[in-house]
Amino acid sequence: MDIRGPRLKKQSDAALEFISSMASDREIARHVIAVNMAHMAGLVRAGEVGRPTGSACMKFLLSASPDIRPGSKAEDFHQQLEQDAVDSLGVETAGFLNFGKSRNDQVATAIRMELRLRVLDLLGAVLELQDSLLGVAHRYGSSLMPGYTHLQRAQPVTLAHHLFAHFDALGRDSDRLVQLYSRVNLSPMGAAALAGTSVGVDRDSVAELLGFSGTVRNSIDAVSSRDFMVEATAVATMAMLDASRLAEEQILWSSKEFGFVELDDSYSASSSIMPQKKNPVVSELVRAKAGSVLGCLVAAAAVLKAMPYSYNLDLQEATPHLWRAMEDASRSLKVLAGATATMRPLTGSMAKAVAHDDSTAVALANHLVKSQGLSFRQAHAIVGELVRLSAEGGVSLPETVSSQLPRVSSKHGKRVAIDEATSRQVLDPLRFVSSIATSGGANPSFIRSDAAKRRRELTSNRARLSELGSQLRASQERLLRVSSGLAREVKTKS
Ligand code: ARG
Repeated sequence: MDIRGPRLKKQSDAALEFISSMASDREIARHVIAVNMAHMAGLVRAGEVGRPTGSACMKFLLSASPDIRPGSKAEDFHQQLEQDAVDSLGVETAGFLNFGKSRNDQVATAIRMELRLRVLDLLGAVLELQDSLLGVAHRYGSSLMPGYTHLQRAQPVTLAHHLFAHFDALGRDSDRLVQLYSRVNLSPMGAAALAGTSVGVDRDSVAELLGFSGTVRNSIDAVSSRDFMVEATAVATMAMLDASRLAEEQILWSSKEFGFVELDDSYSASSSIMPQKKNPVVSELVRAKAGSVLGCLVAAAAVLKAMPYSYNLDLQEATPHLWRAMEDASRSLKVLAGATATMRPLTGSMAKAVAHDDSTAVALANHLVKSQGLSFRQAHAIVGELVRLSAEGGVSLPETVSSQLPRVSSKHGKRVAIDEATSRQVLDPLRFVSSIATSGGANPSFIRSDAAKRRRELTSNRARLSELGSQLRASQERLLRVSSGLAREVKTKS
């Protein structure tokens, strides 16, 4: 018996192939089976289906394969599974599987179940990348390096401080994933096609069997909404944007022009023609995949835009973008974590880059304000002019200060003087960072407590992740126990 029923006289093979979601149903197939189990358990518990029927269905479901059968004529895995059940148990028994449920609530539920796992996987990847940043900061963090604005050397910072900036951005990604998880982890089951059902299945207990923390309260919302999908893709995009900025720095820093870092051979590739080449290919591909993931976000959002409520097959078109985004993001972050953990900062050339580049000029301006009673704007103008004279004359800034400051300062309102040794001291990069007083700044003496704080955050996020993972595993085991218990009744009764 064909479960599609006699409503349609015929269907075109081309149309069937076109509307099929089989290719992407691979991602949710095992959850579709689980949803069928939980629903059947609910039907039996409510007395809507007799125990022998429920038991036979459970037995079938427990051994059902989540593989898409090649050449299957079904529109989707939901249909394949039910058709297989009917073929194997007969319609008098398997015909109860879809009593009080629809593919509409079922697919939304299965997507949420798979997405929970993907969110946790991505969270794990974010934490891994954060961990690798802390590792590098621990080993090399106190080295000085130029901080940049407009990709021009701006002010010296410590390497740790720079890496903590990336860590903190990723920390917000991990917060977003945890918040997203709570919105994904709600069960649409019981919504049926859209209006709910007269079949007495307790939504809360089905939700609990599937490990959800509750139900989507409105049945139309339950089958229509995919905002959780767009949100997940957006969170994945944000994490990838963050990762791409780190990847981009690895690419720049590993160039001869910067020479700040040596990427490990294991995360590089060679050239087929230029024997000397070592290319930062992992970082490049992470940078590129950020674009692909952003594309998935735009595609999924565009599918949802202006779609009338409730279920439309358009929704099926959005789902593959979600899986691609989550997969690309997880893989990218994991491999970037490896590339980051194994990179070797070339601390000597970083330090050299801050030694003689006038990037501490603001310290000289601040010194003029504090010691000579000039306003900051006056001091800024004086130092700016001294830097220009130093560059034009090819004379170092401290020398220029000792020889030209009196003349230049008098042009700007007050004649002052500083000797070369003092100005050298004031302009020293280490002194510059060490004098930073604001919390959250690049003072090397902050590194230890800044690192410890972040290490604690990482540890508590890891605990959170493993707790969510064990909750899911426990609910899977519970569902299996309940289902097997019911399945065993067949033997005892027959
Ligand atoms: N294959 C569909 C999807 O992925 C499942 C739901 C189909 N529902 C329907 N009324 N045709 O969204």
